[in-house]
Amino acid sequence: MRIENGIADQLKELGVELRQGVALADLTSLGIGGPTDELLLRRFETIPDVMRLLKKSGIPYRFVGGGTNLLVMDGELPFVVLHLPTSQPGMRVEGNAAYVDAAADLGGMVTFCAKRDLGGMEGLIGVPGSVGGALRMNAGAYGTQIGPHVREVELYREASGEIETLRGSDIRFDYRHTSFAPGDIMLRVKLELPPKPFKEILAGIRVCNEKRRSSQPLNQKSAGCIFKNPQGGSAGRMIDELGLKGHRVGDAMVSDRHANFFVNAGTATCADMMRLIDDVRERVRAAFGVELENEVIFWQN
Ligand code: EPU
Repeated sequence: MRIENGIADQLKELGVELRQGVALADLTSLGIGGPTDELLLRRFETIPDVMRLLKKSGIPYRFVGGGTNLLVMDGELPFVVLHLPTSQPGMRVEGNAAYVDAAADLGGMVTFCAKRDLGGMEGLIGVPGSVGGALRMNAGAYGTQIGPHVREVELYREASGEIETLRGSDIRFDYRHTSFAPGDIMLRVKLELPPKPFKEILAGIRVCNEKRRSSQPLNQKSAGCIFKNPQGGSAGRMIDELGLKGHRVGDAMVSDRHANFFVNAGTATCADMMRLIDDVRERVRAAFGVELENEVIFWQN
């Protein structure tokens, strides 16, 4: 979808940088997704006006964060994408509290806090993506989830059309799911973290890094785990037991390292990846009677 000149001028006045014809394949870790116009939201305070302008002009939009948990359709997209600038996102520590911009890299934030003797997030170190994406999905790994550390979130709320601050206790953080609305845009977060000497945090980080390196395909294009784990079970183990590692549709392939990671082994399309996902889901249903639910977010229209 392309923004016409008149609206582009109004967006510019609101501090938005317009990048035309950006391929989502270049903004996502899977390397899949068609082109559209990208709007870089350089001024938080004008976001409500930007949203009002887009709505008034009938321009559909989606917000893309780190792009690490997204499967996006092929071909020209029927919506524009919004993005926060990622250069030099704000991070500071005050006592046990960390104040971090949502556009910050999650791993960068864990390291920043660790160097200031704040721990508790060691497990999240290798989870790719932004802090905002981690908040939205309640990212977790190795027994750590971000949700319990959240004290405040500043966000653009779709329901009110304004920038608001929510208390952590007013947000529901479940397994890979939160009470944020799809149109909410995370802007900043305040986390409360347990004090811990840097050396101890570093030791924990090393253990998690090693576990991740030995079990996940870190050097291939993926969106992390494709399916949520069913209650009490493991999607990866079930897919593995069916002998599906290396199974592929075009260049979309079940990783031969971790069976719940589906990788883009070349020039996979969204259609390839969807066929692979449906095929594996069907095989798991037939063999185990379990209906796997997507963990990856799918943008179709
Ligand atoms: N397993 C296999 N074969 C495989 C993969 C896993 O047999 O191909 C077995 C493992 O041996 C283990 C069990 O399945 O006994 C669980 O595997 P693992 O420890 O790798 O964890 P997981 O449940 O597959 C979850 C998260 C990951 C997170 C890891 C580590 C989900 C869907 N996945 O994976 O998160 O990194 O634990 O905490 O909750 C993600 O969210 O995208 C993600 C990758």
